[in-house]
Amino acid sequence: MKINIIKKNTNPSGSLVLFAYEKDDSHKLSAFALQIDKKTGGAISKASSFGKFKGKFGQMVEILAPTGIEANRVLLVGIGKSPYISPKQAQQLGGKIIVKLMYCGDDTIWIDGEYHGADIGFGVRLRHYKFDKYYTTEKNIKISSVLQVNIMTDDISTAKSQLDEFEKIADGVIMARDLVSEPGNILYPESYAEQIKEMTSLGLEVEVLHEDAMEELGMEAILGVGQGSSSETLMVIMKWNGSNKKTTQPVAFVGKGVTFDTGGISLKPGAGMEDMKFDMGGSAAVVGAMKALAGRNAKVNVIGIVGLVENMPSGTAQRPGDVVNSMSGQTIEVINTDAEGRLVLADCLWYCQDKYKPKLIIDLATLTGAMLVALGQDYAGIFSNNDKLCKQLSVAGDAVDEPVWRLPIGDGYDKLINSDIADMKNIGGRYAGSITAAQFLQRFVNKTPWVHIDIAGTAWKQKASDLAAKGATGYGVRLLDRFIKDNYED
Ligand code: BES
Ligand code: MN
Ligand code: ZN
Repeated sequence: MKINIIKKNTNPSGSLVLFAYEKDDSHKLSAFALQIDKKTGGAISKASSFGKFKGKFGQMVEILAPTGIEANRVLLVGIGKSPYISPKQAQQLGGKIIVKLMYCGDDTIWIDGEYHGADIGFGVRLRHYKFDKYYTTEKNIKISSVLQVNIMTDDISTAKSQLDEFEKIADGVIMARDLVSEPGNILYPESYAEQIKEMTSLGLEVEVLHEDAMEELGMEAILGVGQGSSSETLMVIMKWNGSNKKTTQPVAFVGKGVTFDTGGISLKPGAGMEDMKFDMGGSAAVVGAMKALAGRNAKVNVIGIVGLVENMPSGTAQRPGDVVNSMSGQTIEVINTDAEGRLVLADCLWYCQDKYKPKLIIDLATLTGAMLVALGQDYAGIFSNNDKLCKQLSVAGDAVDEPVWRLPIGDGYDKLINSDIADMKNIGGRYAGSITAAQFLQRFVNKTPWVHIDIAGTAWKQKASDLAAKGATGYGVRLLDRFIKDNYED
């Protein structure tokens, strides 16, 4: 599907989308809608007057085969009380519009894009995505008929440059969704690393650490997680040097990339285990964000590090009770092999600080089921040693509708992971599971300003939203991109 920014056209073919807003218990057509209404001899105002249409946000009336214009249909969409919409609302409307029209049979849609036209296009693109590559017949899946979306505006150049940027961000979001949707037999550490390497074409540097190099560095924590799998454990480092300043410490993103989490010897129950293909969602957010930043040529230096590993039970798998030595030198008693994400991140975080001395680190991980208990699926939990970073993330999250909510960490929680025989154990008690996981990570963070984002609840959704079909959300890509754009570019 192609999205175009185009001059206002009062006689398009295909489907035409117009807007109306709420006014005194009724509705009013926008200026452009009024213009079209005249040409149809008042068909639009008539059709929208006798039903329940009030112009409420997202409310719709469909007028088929209107006379006086070429279009097959007019879709009149309510935008709420104000005659103006915000960028975020424009994105939501884009999503709602494409859901309504993607199976209508028309291949071209024309949308009134006078206000935030590029945002409407962004919403359309994000909501139109579907992971359908494994369908071989049309029996089980509907295929969208829409090939072109023309957003009409008089301010072409502004809208075009905004849309260009949105397209790059959408590329990152969609890459993250694709990665998360891929099953474990297709996406495993080696195949995942190959896909990341392809991003060098965008100007990213990509480096892969293999098992021998990780052994050399003493990374027993991440290696232990992968030792039961026939796939090799890999750490992939992506570098984007977009800043024009000579010496700037990079921003660092770190992601959990467990390509499949069976739980290992502490095996998970069978029901729902298939969902654990999304246990690399944190790494997908990092990869997608790197793609977006490189794509839109962001003026910033960023390091992205992902730990790619499969957690399997086997004759060579790690046992509950095993003690491993992390790269940091701290020893860990592995009480539960299903609390593997923190073991992966421990070595990634340490390596990141040791090698790159970043000015800040944000890690993302589908780390704990307890996150779903605490916050459900709307907010991701954040845990941090730095108030300013939390504020910046929270503002960015609200702006792009990927919101975060801060939870506490502290000494009382930290004590819960003390071990009898090693420096720490990898699980706390029954309570505060997301916090004790964060506490574990913090033991691998020095003085570096750091935020951990637990995306266990937000990476995958059972229900569609305005900007995503059900399934992988790509959560984190837009958040990280916005966080950088607002705070860390030259
Ligand atoms: N990947 C899971 C966390 C998870 C569970 C994410 C459900 C999304 C949905 C993680 O590796 C895990 O298994 N965590 C355990 C930790 C426990 C053993 C302390 C959990 O949350 O049950
Ligand atoms: Mn697990
Ligand atoms: Zn996991």
